[in-house]
Amino acid sequence: MGNNRPKKITVVGAGKYGSTAVQRLAGWDIADEVVMTDIVEGLPQGLALDMNQSRPIEGYRTLVTGINDYEATAGSDVAIITAGLPRKPGMSRMDLLAVNARIVKQVTEELVARSPEVTIIVVTNPLDQMTLLAADVSGLPRHRVMGQAGILDSARFAHFIAERLGVDVLSVRALTLGSHGDTMVPVPSQCSVRDTPLAELLPENEIDALVERTRAGGAEIVGLLRTGSAYYAPSSAAAVMARAVLNDEPYVAPVCAWLTGQYGVSDVYLGVPARLGAGGVEEILELPLTDRERHDLHEAADAVRAKVAELAELVVD
Ligand code: LAC
Repeated sequence: MGNNRPKKITVVGAGKYGSTAVQRLAGWDIADEVVMTDIVEGLPQGLALDMNQSRPIEGYRTLVTGINDYEATAGSDVAIITAGLPRKPGMSRMDLLAVNARIVKQVTEELVARSPEVTIIVVTNPLDQMTLLAADVSGLPRHRVMGQAGILDSARFAHFIAERLGVDVLSVRALTLGSHGDTMVPVPSQCSVRDTPLAELLPENEIDALVERTRAGGAEIVGLLRTGSAYYAPSSAAAVMARAVLNDEPYVAPVCAWLTGQYGVSDVYLGVPARLGAGGVEEILELPLTDRERHDLHEAADAVRAKVAELAELVVD
């Protein structure tokens, strides 16, 4: 990343997830420009105009540009892909596979054609499969394409732990790995409150109940909202990832990353702890896991692979 070159972030999709991510990124004043593109005419332009008028009030300079094509995305350092359909009540993330695959493929081609040095953060569901698809289509090195899920899922777990124990949410350390779906792997052995292991604070059946609520955390919000899915915490997660890459932070967090033997798993995109920086996923960290957690992580890898095989059979054009 050149020192004096303008810093640019692109967010694809001006729905609630995308526009909230744009608002967060702009407000942090870390980029010269945040470009928001969407197929709905007027939507990104209107939101951008509104957000830009926040600047004198909030005291930041980042300019938001709303567009319906990809021209102004050229030269982006980081891009967040939110485009695609969200779930409706009763739908699983997998129900979105075919329709969102087509969208993610086209978006990725448009992005990379104009920003060959970009690092891509995918949030479109089903997350693990869409991240692999974007990596394949982009031709970028795999460490420059990652997915957002583990930060969100870990935050949900942390929130539930804090609420159950009545403790400061910021004193809770929580971790989830695996896929963003039914084979999400909450990792109680890595969870603690002010360095006291979670297992010393709650009985196993209560931890299991919090794990279950975390695994269904997205669906719980979809069921309440009725239209659309969660976007406040999801956009926080995607935005901090983009910031880590743009600012070369480094930042350690669980993300959906390409595995090459870590945890005994290869050739699959899966949620694992990683260090993010200007190079994208700069290192995957191998934490000590219990046998059960390791087993669950392998099951999650198998489940993602099975769905990738299903995707390969769909005609995506
Ligand atoms: C969720 C969606 C964004 O988990 O996957 O809320």
